[in-house]
Amino acid sequence: MRDEGNAPVTVSYLTEPHDHREDLLQDVRHGLTAHHKYLPSKYFYDAVGSKLFEQITELPEYYLTRAEAEIIREHADELMAELQPDELLELGSGSSTKTQMLIEAMYRSGPGRRYVPIDISEDALREAAGELRGRYTWLEIEGLVGDYVADLAKIRRRGRRLIIFLGSTVGNYEPTMRYSLLRSVAAALAPGDSFLLGVDLVKDEPTMVAAYDDSAGVSAEFNLNILRVVNRELDGDIPLDAFKHVTRFDVELSCMAQSLRATRPVVANLRKLDLAVTFHEGEEIHTEVSCKFAREQVGRDFEAVGMRVDQWLTDSKGRFALALGSHA
Ligand code: TRP
Repeated sequence: MRDEGNAPVTVSYLTEPHDHREDLLQDVRHGLTAHHKYLPSKYFYDAVGSKLFEQITELPEYYLTRAEAEIIREHADELMAELQPDELLELGSGSSTKTQMLIEAMYRSGPGRRYVPIDISEDALREAAGELRGRYTWLEIEGLVGDYVADLAKIRRRGRRLIIFLGSTVGNYEPTMRYSLLRSVAAALAPGDSFLLGVDLVKDEPTMVAAYDDSAGVSAEFNLNILRVVNRELDGDIPLDAFKHVTRFDVELSCMAQSLRATRPVVANLRKLDLAVTFHEGEEIHTEVSCKFAREQVGRDFEAVGMRVDQWLTDSKGRFALALGSHA
């Protein structure tokens, strides 16, 4: 038997390592030459952006993180006692309080001693693994570098599985991508396995808008930071002071949509792309959608991929939900 005080930590690749720099060049070229300009939200998270996002999660207006943590604190033990997972697979590399509460509940109330985070960033995985390793010497950690839509099927099951996807990150996918993601999750579940999904709920507009446009201006700073990333990586000169953080609720899509709006005409050069980009006054660069859900919507989404909602857990103020799903 393995020494419980010295469980292994590994980080390996699900796909061939490839040059993310090339992706960034391509993505920015596509995004800033498109008719409706956009930048993929994954580029928010350089070192500065990750710090800013952490600050966002502590803002009075950004209720999402606290509401989800409350649900987990309240229900983690009963969930683990009931589901008895042998392994916890997380989409994204969590070392957050929320992930830790689930890992601890798994230890207390179930047989699982194995945590498998999947993330596109090897650095993020190593950091999370290091953090968890220091806290839980009994925890076997198998970090996997990969894309959780494309690579989920490659992960070998080792007993009963609980897949978690927290933070309402599912809301950052446009509907088509959301279905691909849910389809690949459904395919990775065997009978007896489950899926725990965190979703932010539709609510009054002022509350949602404030969460993405706080009074201290951290959300604005976070959104603008993507231009700093582009300037640095592509040797560009986009003037940050010519752009304004904009957020609005799109009723049709049921999503908050974030963008950066030019407050005057701008011509910017991205020297690494040998590209000049022009913006007319009022033109926007779309940066992210954060879709908001209702129970019926999650029910339909799950049903569309052959899953059903087994439990629906909300925080005390009904702002956020955890949907527990399995094969229908
Ligand atoms: N993924 C986060 C969310 O959807 C990102 C985010 C929070 C964000 N605040 C923002 C993105 C402000 C742009 C601007 O909640």
